[in-house]
Amino acid sequence: MELKANPNNNPDKLHRIIIKHPALTDGKVKSVYDVDAHRVMIKYRDEVTAFDGKKKSTPETKGRICCLISELLFTYLEKQGIKTHYIDCPSLDTMLCRKLTIVPIEVIVRNIAAGSIVKNTTLTEGTVISPPLVEYFLKDDSKGDPLLTQDRIRLMGIDPEPMYHIAKDVNLHLQEMFSQLDLDVVDFKLEFGYDADGELYVADEISPDSMRLWGKKDGRSNDKDIFRKYGSDEALIAAYGDILKGLRQLAV
Ligand code: C5P
Repeated sequence: MELKANPNNNPDKLHRIIIKHPALTDGKVKSVYDVDAHRVMIKYRDEVTAFDGKKKSTPETKGRICCLISELLFTYLEKQGIKTHYIDCPSLDTMLCRKLTIVPIEVIVRNIAAGSIVKNTTLTEGTVISPPLVEYFLKDDSKGDPLLTQDRIRLMGIDPEPMYHIAKDVNLHLQEMFSQLDLDVVDFKLEFGYDADGELYVADEISPDSMRLWGKKDGRSNDKDIFRKYGSDEALIAAYGDILKGLRQLAV
């Protein structure tokens, strides 16, 4: 599939925004660069990891596909009134974003049981979770990202309520969007951050790397489980590419 930039993209903008410093942070698949007091540049690399980084690969074009999917989803959520850190995509694999203080919590929304909830409870895979479940995990690999309670989050000095409501809203909008592609949103992860004025934004990325998307008809995975289960770069890129194509068709 041809990876055309969003018509609003302008590679010249990337050259104007000079990345002067080494990465502020090098995450597992993204690097964050300082731009100025209010903005960062996030580069999506051609890497995929699973099982806490124990399984890795470098599928070509993966960075730009995830960046472009995230761009479409952030833009869509913004139109629905949800504040996100997305500002612009100056190149195919690089996103200009608001500089935020990231909340050290991963917020997971689940509509169907899969993954860790199946491993850690008596629920069986595929059980519909209604109403959707919002869970919180500490964002700290060295502690194994433990499940948090709302009370523990409050003890950490963080109010979980605003994240809870935004996560529920994002879920409704993502379900609406992906049902048009005949996909069920099984679960997804959100990260949040505050700007200098104390405004809360959805941060990080929203892509098949951080979601489970099952075909409504065949129940097949169209997300990172393809890599987790089968380790196939080609199948991963094909599935992610199809999602990008589908989202672009909806966006026009
Ligand atoms: O591992 P678990 O089943 O709890 O993951 C739920 C959802 O959150 C999955 O879609 C997974 O890809 C995503 N996730 C993530 N980053 C993490 C943990 C989970 O994107 N660190």
